[in-house]
Amino acid sequence: MIEFLMNLKGRDLKTLADYSKEEITYLLDLSAELKRKMKNKEPYRPLEGHSMAMIFQKRSTRTRVSTETGFAYLGGHALFLGSSDIQLGKNETLQDTALVLSRFNDIILARVFDHSDIDELAKHSSVPVINALSDKFHPLQILADYLTIREHFGKLEGLTLAWVGDGNNVLHSFMTSAAKMGMNLRIATPEGYRPADDVVAIAKADAETNGTELFITSDPKEAVKGAHVVVTDTWVSMGQDAEAEQRLKAFQGYQVTMELCKNADPNWVFMHCLPRKPHEVDDEVFYSERSIVFDEAENRMYTVMAVALVLLGKDN
Ligand code: CP
Ligand code: NVA
Repeated sequence: MIEFLMNLKGRDLKTLADYSKEEITYLLDLSAELKRKMKNKEPYRPLEGHSMAMIFQKRSTRTRVSTETGFAYLGGHALFLGSSDIQLGKNETLQDTALVLSRFNDIILARVFDHSDIDELAKHSSVPVINALSDKFHPLQILADYLTIREHFGKLEGLTLAWVGDGNNVLHSFMTSAAKMGMNLRIATPEGYRPADDVVAIAKADAETNGTELFITSDPKEAVKGAHVVVTDTWVSMGQDAEAEQRLKAFQGYQVTMELCKNADPNWVFMHCLPRKPHEVDDEVFYSERSIVFDEAENRMYTVMAVALVLLGKDN
């Protein structure tokens, strides 16, 4: 249920660092309500006559399909603009692209390499910009993850999330929001693959303010102690292909297995934003009852629908 009204109309979603606990909770409540409506096949088309430009400089299955499908369910039209479809990056600047797309579209969603490209698009666009993954953050993913955790445990507050893997964009999005939601974070990354210093600073400050734990180690076994949610991701993010060999070596010992998680909370669950490779998590965990990865993938749709609705001021 939506417990209170909130006006997020016209905002960008570049990072969850810009969103308060109340705003994130509001988005999750609206996502749950949309999920209920969609499951019941209730017609709900508040975005009729609205269009979204979706810029993808990188591959995508979940983000693209959940956004395109979800926007269509709401009555809107979403255009997929792959890197070879538009002038961006070859013939035209981000500034001019943002200025032109703002004339046609009500909202812009973009998956980019450099996070500064999201800032640049948002700076010049006159319509809201949604970050659909940059090298620094992946806020849409983490909204879906929180919805999934909340569905499973009935709450976020007081839970401990352990990250075992790379100090990457997905981890950064947990780090800029988990403490606000009352969650403890225990992180294991190999030396040299730690999260960015500025993100660690935000996470530390948020943990102090909210009285939650932030623990960073290079020992995966230590990180998963007492965890309710164990999360990993690819060891080689999009754009890092040249480092693949070196990364695969550095992450030895980081595969999530039942043995690794034996000191996690007895009710621990496993999450992964996908796509997944078996070296990150073995089949025994990935396809087990503990794995909530496909609920997590499904929830990408309801959460991006909620984000589009609130940024367009169509949520109430
Ligand atoms: N998790 C996620 O963002 O997946 P895609 O790369 O398939 O969009
Ligand atoms: N960290 C991964 C997430 C993919 C959804 C990447 O950036 O490639």
